[in-house]
Amino acid sequence: MEFSGKLFIFLLLPLLLQISTCDAYANPIYQACNKNFTSDNLLKDSINKTLSSLSAKTSLDSFGISSFGDGFFTIYGLSQCRGSLTVDQCTLCITEATKKIRTLCPNSAETRIWYDHCFLHYDTTRFLGEPDTSFTRVFSSGLIAADPIKFNDDLVDLVYRMKAMTVGIEEKFSIYQADVSKNLSIIATAQCTRDLEELACRQCLDKLSENFSSYCKYHLDCYVISSSCVLRYGVTDFSKIPVSLSPLVFAAGSD
Ligand SMILES: *[C@@H]1O[C@H](CO)[C@@H](O)[C@H](O)[C@H]1NC(C)=O
Ligand SMILES: *[C@@H]1O[C@H](CO)[C@@H](O)[C@H](O)[C@H]1NC(C)=O
Ligand SMILES: *[C@@H]1O[C@H](CO)[C@@H](O)[C@H](O)[C@H]1NC(C)=O
Ligand SMILES: *[C@@H]1O[C@H](CO)[C@@H](O)[C@H](O)[C@H]1NC(C)=O
Repeated sequence: MEFSGKLFIFLLLPLLLQISTCDAYANPIYQACNKNFTSDNLLKDSINKTLSSLSAKTSLDSFGISSFGDGFFTIYGLSQCRGSLTVDQCTLCITEATKKIRTLCPNSAETRIWYDHCFLHYDTTRFLGEPDTSFTRVFSSGLIAADPIKFNDDLVDLVYRMKAMTVGIEEKFSIYQADVSKNLSIIATAQCTRDLEELACRQCLDKLSENFSSYCKYHLDCYVISSSCVLRYGVTDFSKIPVSLSPLVFAAGSD
């Protein structure tokens, strides 16, 4: 890979960020409810216990993994916030997510819910440690760069460097400010769930960046989510200001 050498990147320290509105946690970006069951108290009990445990763990460490139940009724869960959140902000987001998932997916044994700031996932399959790019979804405001070719070259360069930085650190999260196209500055983040080892994180980000380069191309902002990692950049500092994004395209055949 050849670098232009002109891209100027700062690694931002995970400062305690102000989130400007309570709305930041109000609406999920996306959720998926699967393995629906009609009535099953054993499963419901495992789900309840897993969700309670995840809330408790998140309020200590901004991350949690848990499992409850036996055999067919075992539920595995994971909760995680964007790396730049404080533990208190994370707790608010995960509390909201656990409430929402109960109303949105009341009888589902496999659910995922993504917010701007956090992610919650549970399943009867033990998914921990596995790089999972199913449920890959792409969001953007739809704005296109004034200098799309140059913008895209810089972006490819940035994503390459972000991946290299993110996979090796324990937080599995990094946030950057990069000056692209001379007069344009973007904020960018890459994150894997913290249950992933370095290789699994890299595999996830590599897969996601394929979607990134095809769908996000030329866009001034883009957010690609999956079950194990996310990539995002934008001209507005989305870590502080909520940005309204729409589904750009739903990657076909990836579920
Ligand atoms: C499962 O149930 C939820 C709502 O309870 C519904 O939105 C979703 O489409 C269902 N999923 C499947 C795969 O049928
Ligand atoms: C699970 O939790 C919900 C909400 O707190 C409650 O209504 C339901 O009775 C619980 N179900 C079981 C089987 O514990
Ligand atoms: C940045 O440069 C591009 C192309 O040179 C131009 O079209 C655009 O208006 C500039 N943007 C700002 C904010 O100055
Ligand atoms: C998007 O990612 C999924 C999962 O990795 C992959 O199957 C699909 O081919 C990708 N799509 C494109 C256009 O790269």
